[in-house]
Amino acid sequence: MQNKHLWIAVGLTVALMALVFVAGWMTGRPDRHEAPVAAVSTPVDARAVFVPGAGQIDALRRGVPVDKEGHPPPMAHVENADLRRARAYPMQPPTIPHAIDGYQVDRNSNRCMLCHARANAATFQAPPVSVTHYMDRDDQFLATISPRRYFCNQCHVVQTDAPVLVANQFRDIDSVLSSPPAAKE
Ligand code: HEC
Ligand code: HEC
Repeated sequence: MQNKHLWIAVGLTVALMALVFVAGWMTGRPDRHEAPVAAVSTPVDARAVFVPGAGQIDALRRGVPVDKEGHPPPMAHVENADLRRARAYPMQPPTIPHAIDGYQVDRNSNRCMLCHARANAATFQAPPVSVTHYMDRDDQFLATISPRRYFCNQCHVVQTDAPVLVANQFRDIDSVLSSPPAAKE
């Protein structure tokens, strides 16, 4: 007797599940069997170079027409050659010639100063920050790095191998001075 009731309950549950499944099958999303809709715009290969005078309005679009979508360019690599670059003018903050991934600079710690503080520079063979980095706004010398120079990346940046987006004809003063007088502007 007990077993019979159990079998009836199981049979009813299975029948109900089958019913729900068929109902779901019939009323499911109508577009289920349709071919996927073709993408409205196919990405265009971006040239990643600015061609002056080529009718480009926005160099940052890398030659992709405004009504088209461009492929994202490959991610750039941060230069890590450890070779200090020439500065373009005397008070330029030198660019960082090494990768800085994971170097934390916050209220409690400054990773850059581990190597670039005067006291540690010899150990790590890093150029110590110059004296300007210890001066406050009244030109007083502080014992530790000045708050004005604490967040190094405000002024110092790494360089990547990304192609330039905007043409640049900058010449430093030495190349201007050494060019023949006629060429001077
Ligand atoms: C592990 C030690 C170390 C740490 C940490 C470090 N540096 Fe350096 N840094 C060096 C060394 C060594 C050089 C010399 C060139 C080279 O070998 O890469 C250098 C060079 C530089 C230069 C070039 C100086 C010049 O005169 O051209 C700058 C700018 C610089 N680092 C900024 C930073 C900043 C900003 C941070 C933090 C985000 C940082 N560094 C963290 C070791 C370090
Ligand atoms: C407000 C901008 C600014 C900030 C912030 C700053 N620097 Fe500089 N840094 C400069 C400038 C400008 C120079 C080049 C002229 C000079 O030495 O003052 C320079 C020079 C340097 C040099 C080369 C020194 C030499 O004698 O060749 C190093 C190394 C350096 N900075 C590291 C750092 C580190 C590390 C930090 C963060 C603790 C930092 N800087 C924060 C602007 C800045």
